[in-house]
Amino acid sequence: MSEIHVVNKGNRHLYGDYFDPYFRLRHDIYVKQRKWMALDRPDGREIDRFDTNEAVYLFCIDGDRLIGGMRAVPTVMPNLMSEIFPYLNIRGPIQRPDVYELSRIFVIPERRGEHAGPRIDMLLLTAIMEYGISMGLTAFSIVLESWWLPRFERCGWKAHPLGLPQMIDGMSVLAVLVDCDETTWTSLCGQIGLRKPTLTWRGLAGVNRRALPDLSPPAPLTVRPGQSPLHGAGDCAT
Ligand code: COA
Repeated sequence: MSEIHVVNKGNRHLYGDYFDPYFRLRHDIYVKQRKWMALDRPDGREIDRFDTNEAVYLFCIDGDRLIGGMRAVPTVMPNLMSEIFPYLNIRGPIQRPDVYELSRIFVIPERRGEHAGPRIDMLLLTAIMEYGISMGLTAFSIVLESWWLPRFERCGWKAHPLGLPQMIDGMSVLAVLVDCDETTWTSLCGQIGLRKPTLTWRGLAGVNRRALPDLSPPAPLTVRPGQSPLHGAGDCAT
């Protein structure tokens, strides 16, 4: 069973065994597989200047194995968009306590795609929305490749472009602001069959956050006597 853990400076000590494999995985995925050579480091770990004490990580852990992750950086701190890609955002820098920048989403190769059971990428997208609304965030900024846009559209993430896509190292890249709201979270939960919040906040009992409610099950289909269950109100008779 995969669990998504919130890891920040308040509980990082509880996840000490995971950080080295995490940074090595990032190196394998981004440098060796994706060939983002600017991230290469001789020690085989992909760590950048935004992996600070203020970064928040979602670790997807199955048994005791890290199988996916995502990073969130407060936009009041230096971040990818402000420091490396400011030209992607024609509206100017975002520095807001209610907006975090997302980056480094990954799933290990053998757990990608439909064949891998519950979709870990969807679980991460749902979990970060849960994190955001629990913490009072209203949006996520992201620098991403444009192939994410149809994926976001399909799962209900509302992404607003902040500028035109640009070709960077052979990739079409743009900056977006994604709404962080309860409607999106509820819809994502419905899509992956979650009936309650999924995040594990181990060692973070003192964090000031909103506890999210369990979600009500879908309303049962009511069938009036003599009516076919396939023809509810509003159905077209075709
Ligand atoms: N370029 C273009 N499209 C891509 C892509 C890439 N580098 N990586 C994934 N996709 C799209 C494709 O539409 C793909 O469909 P396909 O199977 O027809 O090629 C679809 O996503 C499914 O991707 P898949 O890799 O099977 O798995 P997933 O949906 O479970 O996980 C990721 C998606 C992005 C989490 C996973 O591919 C991953 O970890 N990639 C490496 C890390 C990464 O590039 N992260 C994004 C930048 S931070």
